[in-house]
Amino acid sequence: MRIIIVVGARPNFIKVAPLTSALSSAGVHARIAHTGQHYDAAMSDVFFTDLEIPEPAWFLGVGSGTHAVQTGMAMVKLEELLAAERPDALLVVGDVNSTLAGALAAAKIGVPVVHLEAGVRSRDMSMPEEVNRLVTDQLSSMLLTPVRLADANLFAEGVDAARIHFVGNIMSESVLRNLDRIEDRDVCGAYGLPRAGYVLATVHRPENTDYPQRLGAIAAALLESPLPVMFPVHPRTRPLLDAAGITGTNLARVRLVDPVGYLDMLALQRDAAAIVTDSGGVQVEACMVGTPCVTVRRNTEWTSTIDVGANRLVPAVAGAIADALAGALVGSRTWSMPERWDDRVSARVTEALLGGVIPLVGCA
Ligand code: UD1
Ligand code: UDP
Repeated sequence: MRIIIVVGARPNFIKVAPLTSALSSAGVHARIAHTGQHYDAAMSDVFFTDLEIPEPAWFLGVGSGTHAVQTGMAMVKLEELLAAERPDALLVVGDVNSTLAGALAAAKIGVPVVHLEAGVRSRDMSMPEEVNRLVTDQLSSMLLTPVRLADANLFAEGVDAARIHFVGNIMSESVLRNLDRIEDRDVCGAYGLPRAGYVLATVHRPENTDYPQRLGAIAAALLESPLPVMFPVHPRTRPLLDAAGITGTNLARVRLVDPVGYLDMLALQRDAAAIVTDSGGVQVEACMVGTPCVTVRRNTEWTSTIDVGANRLVPAVAGAIADALAGALVGSRTWSMPERWDDRVSARVTEALLGGVIPLVGCA
């Protein structure tokens, strides 16, 4: 079997890492096409090194742009690639623009689409990711889901049950496969912060970054944190923090650093007293490493982290964030893991693929 895996943005790299080795052990010929949606070394190369991901066979150099420009550019390049290679399937992961571009290009050229992390829903159509997920799932021949609720979402949207495989959460497998590797990694110590003596923060969602009042509220809550804050800053967010109030003398309370690599980030999450984030992946990882999480968003697609008691969802209002953080800092650090958030996800994906991908009616 010959498949092409599309990646483009930071969370994609982390999700495909366990998969590439499982597929190659099973004799599946899988090659990576990197769209270039993320291109800074700290947003891309570091993950290939940290996670020992095979070098992409194709680098499409799409870069940044509006949604239409970025998605359209990636579609054009992927269409050329698929026409030349004619793989048995195109595997796309998650919900970023590169995922949508891959699904659209493949579905139209008659290459079956396999979607890993299918069926996840925030029910918020103002999120570009929700649009990407909905369309990708409609175009997919095989839908690999991370939670049982995702299966139910897909049934409700009319997807044939034979196409849905509940494989579990691939991000969880990445965490479990790397915890041993970071046992002695003391990233917080290198920044002069004691273990369990700081709050880790990440913010990059447009619903927060593109609204000065919301970003200002998050900044105000972080500045009031009872513990110092370690904040690896996404490039989207970096130019906006000064205006939000994280600047000058405040930088002693909230330490801004460039994006960190996966292994450093995992160690920072494990060792934090609590995490404040709007990231999808970080909500999952916080749950896996046993660190209470406060998610600053209007909704989350990772409701299972809330159900097990690992995560609190709050709006971008300073007082609400501060209250949730106070609760997280004294709250339990133990909970049960959602079903199939384990280290067998890539094995289930491989098994599903080897069972055969049924093309959608009308595909070549
Ligand atoms: C994208 C995804 C989002 C995901 C996030 C992971 C979409 C619609 N959004 O958002 O779902 O959570 O990736 O991090 O696909 N930039 C750089 N260097 C880079 C990459 C980006 O400076 O290597 C800057 C550029 O100014 C760019 C901006 O970040 O315009 C946003 O990048 P983009 O890929 O469009 O969206 P993200 O916010 O990263
Ligand atoms: N991450 C990282 N370094 C950072 C910030 C995040 O390695 O400085 C990792 C994080 O651990 C998780 C992934 O990036 O595995 C999540 O990506 P991001 O938050 O950018 O996107 P999302 O998951 O929200 O789509």
